[in-house]
Amino acid sequence: MSQKQYITSQSGAPIADDQNSLSAGERGPLLLQDWHLIEKLAHFNRERIPERVVHAKGTGVYGTFTVTNDMSQYTIAEHFQGVGTQTEAFVRFSTVGGEMGSADAERDPRGFGVRFYTKRGNHDIVGNNTPTFFLRDGIKFPDFIHTQKRNPHTNLKDPQAMWDFWSLNPESLHQVTVLMSDRGIPANYRQMHGFGSHTFSFWNAKGERFWVKFHFKTEQGIANLTEEQAAKVKGIDPDHAQRDMVAAIQDGNFPRWKLKVQIMPEADANTYHINPFDLTKVWPHKDYPLIEVGILELNRLPQNYFAEVEQVALAPSNLVPGVGASPDKMLQARLFAYADAQRYRIGANYNQLPVNCPHATQANHHQRAGAMAGAQCPYHRSQTGGDASANYGPNSQPSGLQDATEFKEPPLRLDGEADRYSRYGQDDYTQAGNLYRLLPEEEKARLISNICGTLSQATQDVQQRMIGHFSQADADYGRRVQEMLVS
Ligand code: HEM
Repeated sequence: MSQKQYITSQSGAPIADDQNSLSAGERGPLLLQDWHLIEKLAHFNRERIPERVVHAKGTGVYGTFTVTNDMSQYTIAEHFQGVGTQTEAFVRFSTVGGEMGSADAERDPRGFGVRFYTKRGNHDIVGNNTPTFFLRDGIKFPDFIHTQKRNPHTNLKDPQAMWDFWSLNPESLHQVTVLMSDRGIPANYRQMHGFGSHTFSFWNAKGERFWVKFHFKTEQGIANLTEEQAAKVKGIDPDHAQRDMVAAIQDGNFPRWKLKVQIMPEADANTYHINPFDLTKVWPHKDYPLIEVGILELNRLPQNYFAEVEQVALAPSNLVPGVGASPDKMLQARLFAYADAQRYRIGANYNQLPVNCPHATQANHHQRAGAMAGAQCPYHRSQTGGDASANYGPNSQPSGLQDATEFKEPPLRLDGEADRYSRYGQDDYTQAGNLYRLLPEEEKARLISNICGTLSQATQDVQQRMIGHFSQADADYGRRVQEMLVS
């Protein structure tokens, strides 16, 4: 027979009565000495941490990444080498603009944040379901997000702010076209692609650098919701994408994505006709074809949503030897922003939590103490080497921590004058127009209708500016938006 499990206090003492508080007489007031009641109420008051400033609503799942094509000619990253190599992974899917309780079926990019627990540390690719983004310079990110969140006066979503910003920032046009197209509302998280979106870098054992873009191609087929379908789904089940993922994993219907990369030799960046570090642009596949790397399969639900999904701290700065950043100005801003947000949102020692701890290896560093420092994760010991008293480096201990010089990234040549270079005056129209021209007629019609659904709520001057941008991308695109707005 199994032993009784008693309810206890946080300090482990069995609690004799968790049903009734301690009062002075049956009808009397409560006693301060009821420390169990006080612990319960006080802890309850501290159950919430700040939600993510963006991507607050999300779903997390563990899985496995398996290499199907050895990448050692491009990178020393061990999780991309050796056919059959397997690495534990974690993916958090999300919407962007809504709060934690918002509906999954909003028209919004979907976050697609992948973590690989590699033997050389955690590698995160914190991307979206779109290969591009609205901006090419991180200095505009807070402004852009303010237009996607609630109006500070009315506390309502604000189509005027949204379109006003886009009309004054033509670099957004390509991504706006993606967002307003059928792909703007994926049917669920399984039936969409994922993209690292930015240009990252690979470097190999010879010290050669390559620019790289990551693509996760769904094996489930693409499925989207129309505006009308989404309106129904939001009303019936605001958590439909979370429910879909939980059901798929519980049924053993494990979703899979093929990881592919586009690879550009370092020197091409100087001559390629597209700025490869501009996040508003794709690299046409005819110039840089997709190369398969492996299969990502999701197959295990977290035990504790708060501990593992709410507290996961994915960050584009979590890079490992063989994978580096690039001069992409958006990526550069993100390299700072995530860990900073996580120190605030979770606390200075967030990397000691089991979901964040690099548990396929061991974290060894001289960073000490801070709130909640300690062995919360059995794998994270912030070791100092043989002598635990040497919390500084260099030190003369024979077993002190050493620099990992064999993983030195090849130097990157930079030149140019420090200045604030304009975001404007670049070609914001060709790729947006190409995408429009590629859409079948019925999808074009839905795109125009989706745009006008909210653009019609903006002022005339904003509408006119937007029609100008659509027309520059494609005359037919602009004409049809104009016609629908006046009809
Ligand atoms: C979440 C900032 C652009 C994808 C976040 C968070 C911040 C942030 C502060 C919350 C992090 C946390 O509390 O854990 C920024 C800034 C950007 C930017 C400053 C531009 C300079 C992008 C872009 C993408 C992206 C371009 C995709 C290509 C995501 C995803 C999450 C996220 C997927 C959620 C991660 C998770 O699931 O925990 N972003 N972001 N962000 N961002 Fe960004």
